[in-house]
Amino acid sequence: MTRIGDSLPRVDGRAKITGAAKYSAEFRPPHLACASLVMSTVPSGRVSRMETAEAERAPGVVAVITPFNAIKLPAPERRISLLQHREVFYQNQPIAVVVAETIEQSKYAASLVRPHYQTAPARLDFLAGFQTSYPSEHNGEPGDQSWGDVDTGLASAALKIDAVYTTPIQHHNPMEPHATVAFWNGDRVTFYDATQHISGVREKAAKIFGIPKENVHVISLFTGGGFGCKGQVWSHTMLAALAAKQVKRPVKLVLERPQMFGPVGARPMTYQHVVLGATREGKLTAIRHEVHSNTSVIEDYLESAAFPTRVMYSCPNISTQSRLVPLNLGTPTYMRAPGVATGTYAIEVAMDELAFALKMDPLALRLQNYAEADPHSGKPFTEKNLRECYQRAAAAFGWSKRNHEPRSMIRGNELIGWGMATETYPGKNLPAAALVRLQPDGRVLVASGTQEIGTGNYTILTEVAADVLRLPASVIDARLGDTNLPPAPISAGSMSTASVAPAVKAAAEAARDKLIALAVSDRSSPVYGAPATDVDFSDGKVALKSDRSRSQDFGSILKRNRNEPVEASAVTEPLIDPLQTPCHSFGAVFAEVSVDRGLGMTRVNRVVAVYDVGRIVNQQTARSQFIGGIVWGISLALYEETEVDWRYGRIANANLAEYHVPVNADIGEIDASALDIPDFKLDSVGARGLGEIGITGTGAAISNAIFHATGKRVRDLPITPDKLL
Ligand code: MOS
Repeated sequence: MTRIGDSLPRVDGRAKITGAAKYSAEFRPPHLACASLVMSTVPSGRVSRMETAEAERAPGVVAVITPFNAIKLPAPERRISLLQHREVFYQNQPIAVVVAETIEQSKYAASLVRPHYQTAPARLDFLAGFQTSYPSEHNGEPGDQSWGDVDTGLASAALKIDAVYTTPIQHHNPMEPHATVAFWNGDRVTFYDATQHISGVREKAAKIFGIPKENVHVISLFTGGGFGCKGQVWSHTMLAALAAKQVKRPVKLVLERPQMFGPVGARPMTYQHVVLGATREGKLTAIRHEVHSNTSVIEDYLESAAFPTRVMYSCPNISTQSRLVPLNLGTPTYMRAPGVATGTYAIEVAMDELAFALKMDPLALRLQNYAEADPHSGKPFTEKNLRECYQRAAAAFGWSKRNHEPRSMIRGNELIGWGMATETYPGKNLPAAALVRLQPDGRVLVASGTQEIGTGNYTILTEVAADVLRLPASVIDARLGDTNLPPAPISAGSMSTASVAPAVKAAAEAARDKLIALAVSDRSSPVYGAPATDVDFSDGKVALKSDRSRSQDFGSILKRNRNEPVEASAVTEPLIDPLQTPCHSFGAVFAEVSVDRGLGMTRVNRVVAVYDVGRIVNQQTARSQFIGGIVWGISLALYEETEVDWRYGRIANANLAEYHVPVNADIGEIDASALDIPDFKLDSVGARGLGEIGITGTGAAISNAIFHATGKRVRDLPITPDKLL
C-alpha cells in the first residue's frame, strides 16, 4: 500500500522520459495553422502604420493580423496586447500575428512585416523614478506596514547597520516555452495551453471574448515549468484564440525564446534600503526595510521584498515600505518566491553585517532574536520549529568550527568562506475540488482541475488517494489539467498540495464511505447487514473488522451492483485566514564557497538546508523542489541577470547563451531535508507547501559566505567576478 510520506517515484515519470507525455504545443487538431508574433522594436509610442504586403505574399501565409485589421473584441484588456489598439508600452511587445501553414512559413513572414512608429519618450531611469514612485499592495496585503517607533528604536541602539542592497531583473525561462493551441467550434473555444492555471485561462477567455465560461475548455496535461511566468494570462494565449477566430482554423502559437523576455513577466529589480539597530548583546531594537521595485507603465506588480522582514525576527519597532517605479518594460510578475527570494537576500545580508559588527556568531544573532510568535500581531504561528532547523543544519554543516574572521580559511589559490541565512515562505491554500471514482474494473480514478507544472502533482494526487483508500498506487489513475474536472486553484505560491490534497482526501473518504454503505446493503456481500462502522476498506477489499475472512474486493461488489462506479466529489476550504492566523514555513541554509583569488570566480562547494514546511507528502518530489530552489538561489547570488540597454529599453541578453543560469557543473553538494512535522491547522493533510522556500535565504547565505571568504561585502546581485577583483 502507498502512504502519504512515501517516496513514490513520479507516476508520470515514464511518460515524460519516453516522450509519451503530451505538452500543449504537441496537440494537432485537423487543419492546424501556425502563428508567429511580430514584436515591437521601440519602448514607447504607437504604431503609425504597418507594411504587410510582402509578408502576405510570402509562401503559406494565411493571414497577417495587425491592430489595423484584427477582429474587435468585446472586452479587451490594456495589460495585455490583443491588437485592439496601436500603443506600444515596451520593447518586445506583440504588435502583430502572422498565421501560415507551417511554423517556418509564419516565422519567415513575420520577419517581413515592417512596423512604423510615432515614438514617445520612454521612462527608463529606475533611480530617477523614485521621485514619482508610489505605494502598492501584493495579493491583498499592504505594501507598507509598521509598528512601534523605528526612530526611537534606532536612538536606543548601540550599533546600527545602514545599507542598500540591489537585485536585478530576472526572466523565468522554463524549458518549455509558452505555447497555445486554440480552436473554435461556433462560440465555443478550446485551448491547449502551457499554463499554471487552467481556470484562470478559462475565465480570462470568457471575459475577453464575451462568451459564457462554460463555452471555454482549457486542457493542460503537462506544463514544462512555470515558476510564476505561466500563472497569469498573457497576450499570446488570447492572440492564439483571436487568430483562430479570425482565420477560422485551429492555430498554434509558440513563443520563441527571445520573445519570452518582455511579454510574459519577469522578476522586477529591487533597490532595498535596510537599517538595523541592536544592543551590544545583539537584541534588535529597530528594523527599517524600504523597497523600490520596477513595474510597467500598464500594470502594477509589486515585488513584496519588504514582507518577509515582518515575520522573521522579534523586534518591537519595525517599518516596512514598498514603492513602485513604472518603467517602459514588460510587466513584471511572480517569480519563484516572489518578494521573498529578493527580500530575504537583503535582510539576511544585513543581519550578517550586524553579526560581524557585533563580533557575534551569525547563528547566535538569529537565535537571540528568535520570533516565538508573529512579531506584528503577537499571535502564535500555526507551527514553527525553526530552532530545530538551525540546530540540525548547523550540525550537519559543521558550523561550530567556523572562525569569525574573514579570510581565515585559505586553500592554495582559494579563499574559503562559510555563510548562513534564515529562510521563510508564507503557508497558504485556496478552495479546491476533487473527485474519486472506484471502478468495477478494480481501478480508481482521482481527478482535480489542477495543473502539473513539473512539481509532481499527478504523484501527489495518487499518493493521497492511495493513503486514504489503503491501496497501492499502481491501481490509481490521476487526471488533472482539464477545466471539465472539478475546479482547483492556480499552481503557484507553494499552494497546490495544501489546497488540492485536502480535497482529494475528502473525496476519497466520501467514496470509501459510499462503497461501504453499498456493501453492507448488498445481500450477496460478505459484510451484508453489518453496521458500516464495523467494516473497513483496505488493500482493495471491503472487510468486516472483527472477521477479515468476511471480505470481498471492491470490483466484484461494483460489478454485482449494476456494474457502475462509486464516485464522490469534495470541495475543501482553507481552515484559516492567513491574514488572521500567522502561518509560515521556515528553514535554515548554510553554504560554503570558494573564491579564486586571481579570477574572482566563486564556486558553491556545498549547501546544507533544513526546512520546516509541514508534512512531506512525497519525499522525492519534496527533495527535488528544495534542490531546485537552492540551485536557483545559487543562480540569484552568482549568475542571473537580465541586461537592459537603458538607452532603448531593449533586453541585450534575451537568449539562453547570454542569460546565465547554473548548469550541473556549477553545482556542488546539496543536502536538503525537512523536519516533516505536520501542520494540521492549515489543512487536513498537514502539508504547508514547499515549492519556493528553497530559493529564499540561499542568495544571502552565499553572499555571506563570500564575505567570510574574502572580507569584501558586495551588496549588488549577482556577485560576478568583476565585483570581487
Ligand atoms: Mo509561483 S512564483 O508563485 O508560480
